[in-house]
Amino acid sequence: TEYTYILTEREQRVGIVILNRPKELNALNFQLVSELANALEEMDRDEAIGCIVLTGAGDKAFAAGADIKEMADKTPIEMMGAGFEAWQRIRKIHTPMIAAVNGYALGGGCELALHCDMIVASENARFGQPEIQLGIIPGAGGTQRLARVLGKYRTMEMVLTGATLPAQELAQLGLINRVVPVGEHLVEAVKLAQKVAKQAPLAARLAKEAVLAAFETSLEGGLDVERKNFFLLFSSQDMREGMQAFIEKRPAEFQGK
Ligand code: HXC
Repeated sequence: TEYTYILTEREQRVGIVILNRPKELNALNFQLVSELANALEEMDRDEAIGCIVLTGAGDKAFAAGADIKEMADKTPIEMMGAGFEAWQRIRKIHTPMIAAVNGYALGGGCELALHCDMIVASENARFGQPEIQLGIIPGAGGTQRLARVLGKYRTMEMVLTGATLPAQELAQLGLINRVVPVGEHLVEAVKLAQKVAKQAPLAARLAKEAVLAAFETSLEGGLDVERKNFFLLFSSQDMREGMQAFIEKRPAEFQGK
């Protein structure tokens, strides 16, 4: 599929999606977010892809937020109709996703990174929710996902002042998996993705779903999802193969079945 504002690539079992409006710091206009959802769904359906890396083109930004020039004259109804449901589609991707962040991840850009399951950032990465400075608030989950990771007080400071935080500090607070030298974010993210992509694909998807349940449901509900997914995997060929390979002291060969 041809896209205008994103690029897609493949490295073995890893799919790579690149936000590609570098002159606008990869600002997320409505078409970009919709293309992104389409590309992610396409990769999600592709059995040859076991993990997805999401990154931004250029050396300045992952994404500097929703496109302010596009939003400036919108009404609430127009915002509702303008493809905002694409965010729900991104949220529903089953394949594990890793954000490779360089430079700014602001507003919707920060929220997009938070939609990913792991975050690799270069030393110069900065995260923030500056919406308050525009007279709005985060709209793609920033208040909720930041609060669940950073707690109330740091989230309030970010959301109420719009101040950005450096990757190093956020790594200490648990929001970032790895901080790497400038220029190495994508290589490192792909390396991490390869480790995920070589696992049994069904197990990886159901593991992702179970961990997300910890953030999206009660403990009771999350434990339910975990237990059911655990039992479900005993119907897979990969489970037989994984355990047989262990017993026979050989590497497992997973088929995604
Ligand atoms: C539209 C943007 C943009 C954005 C940058 N640009 N961010 N255009 N929407 N969010 C454009 C600039 O207008 C400029 O184009 C070009 O990209 C380069 O940006 P500069 O500002 O010249 O770069 P710099 O001086 O280095 O400053 C970088 C920056 C700043 C600090 C990141 O660009 C900035 O503050 N951007 C806005 C960040 C923000 O407020 N994000 C939240 C958006 S609201 P021209 O052609 O003018 O030179 C949001 C809501 C999400 O995300 C809701 C859910 C989806």
